[in-house]
Amino acid sequence: MRILIVGSGGREHAIAWKIAQSPKAEKIYCAPGNAGIEEYAECVPIGAMEFEKLAAFAKEKEIDLTVVGMDDPLVGGIVDVFEREGLRIFGPRKNAAILEGSKAFSKDLMKKYGIPTAAYENFDNPEAALAYLEHAAFPIVLKADGLALGKGVLICNTLEEAREGVKTIMQDKQFGTAGNRMVIEEFMTGREVSVLSFVDGKTIKCMTSAQDHKRALDGDQGLNTGGMGTFSPSPFYTEEVDEFCKEHIYQATVDAMAAEGREFKGVIFFGLMLTDKGPRVLEYNARFGDPEAQVVLPRMKNDIVEVFEACVDGTLDQVELQFEDNAAVCVVLASGGYPVAYEKGFPIRGLEKFQDKDGYYVFHAGTKKADGQFVTNGGRVLGVTAAGADLKIARRNAYEAVKLVEFEKAYCRSDIGKAIDEI
Ligand code: AMP
Ligand code: GLY
Repeated sequence: MRILIVGSGGREHAIAWKIAQSPKAEKIYCAPGNAGIEEYAECVPIGAMEFEKLAAFAKEKEIDLTVVGMDDPLVGGIVDVFEREGLRIFGPRKNAAILEGSKAFSKDLMKKYGIPTAAYENFDNPEAALAYLEHAAFPIVLKADGLALGKGVLICNTLEEAREGVKTIMQDKQFGTAGNRMVIEEFMTGREVSVLSFVDGKTIKCMTSAQDHKRALDGDQGLNTGGMGTFSPSPFYTEEVDEFCKEHIYQATVDAMAAEGREFKGVIFFGLMLTDKGPRVLEYNARFGDPEAQVVLPRMKNDIVEVFEACVDGTLDQVELQFEDNAAVCVVLASGGYPVAYEKGFPIRGLEKFQDKDGYYVFHAGTKKADGQFVTNGGRVLGVTAAGADLKIARRNAYEAVKLVEFEKAYCRSDIGKAIDEI
């Protein structure tokens, strides 16, 4: 098969690596890709939002299957464009990707179908939001409705902070049009877990669990980022939690989307919070997590191309997902200054040390080649990942692996997976 991947981050590198292992994959392309992805795929300089160009490319190269990694093109309707052209593509259509594209939509869906989530109200003007806050309990959570690179969520401890937050989201439009609407939601406490799943419109099959570390600095301090590291599985995702989610959340979400005439095919990513009242949905994403994919896919035993095809064809009920009985940890090496301002173009040394090292992976997020050398080209640069027999071994291996690579002003969190010590 000839396969096209759309995206350019560490997640897409992990997807490319996994697809490359499939005997079905004869030729892989990635648009636009990055310097690491080039090891498995021919990278083509077409942007992820250039749907018509991508579809024309897929036709010209007789692509059998396109896999979309990123949220923006999915929410923007890339799947609809490809389907209109008769091209096979893995991912939700625009009317289903709204599950991630609008938090107000997803909250209303959960309320309508009784899926457990935080209490909330939606607002489309700042005056109403401000009036509501006068009688609210604090802390409280403000969320820009649309896509905001994982940064559109503000946790406000006081009325004053919340008023400022409404201004930031709805008046100053710090997250652009994502802030045209806003969700105000009850603050919950508990441990967070990411569960990614494959969905074919009717059937849902969950992958192994993972936990992200969203804040920039150790001890969950600093600004929110796209994700600074992950581990899988989450030891807090117990059988009891799994049972609850199977009964109240996973199939219920797929069925709700189908009942709304928004059949979902692709990956649903459940961002869960394990509260003392039970698991609650924090958010949905309509794609693999980044850097969750970097720890989940190395543990997956299935031929991923077969799973993608089963989702597209509606035959996922015939697939049994299988994962290694091990663990994986991914530590993100970022450019100093991320997620605010950072420099690019520093040479990266030591990448060759990962070759022939079983169970070690370096997924490129923001790199490019300049004069034949890998250089930094983004905030998150590399996802250094290692497997191990258990979480502690995987974590030790990942931090050993981090020492193998270096670039100027590199930084990473030193406490990825620290939560493991609590069990
Ligand atoms: P989201 O993009 O909705 O997942 O939110 C980003 C992060 O904000 C989450 O990973 C949580 O850490 C935090 N968060 C979101 N909603 C809530 C909530 N209702 N209560 C507490 N923390 C939240
Ligand atoms: N790591 C969180 C996300 O991909 O949204």
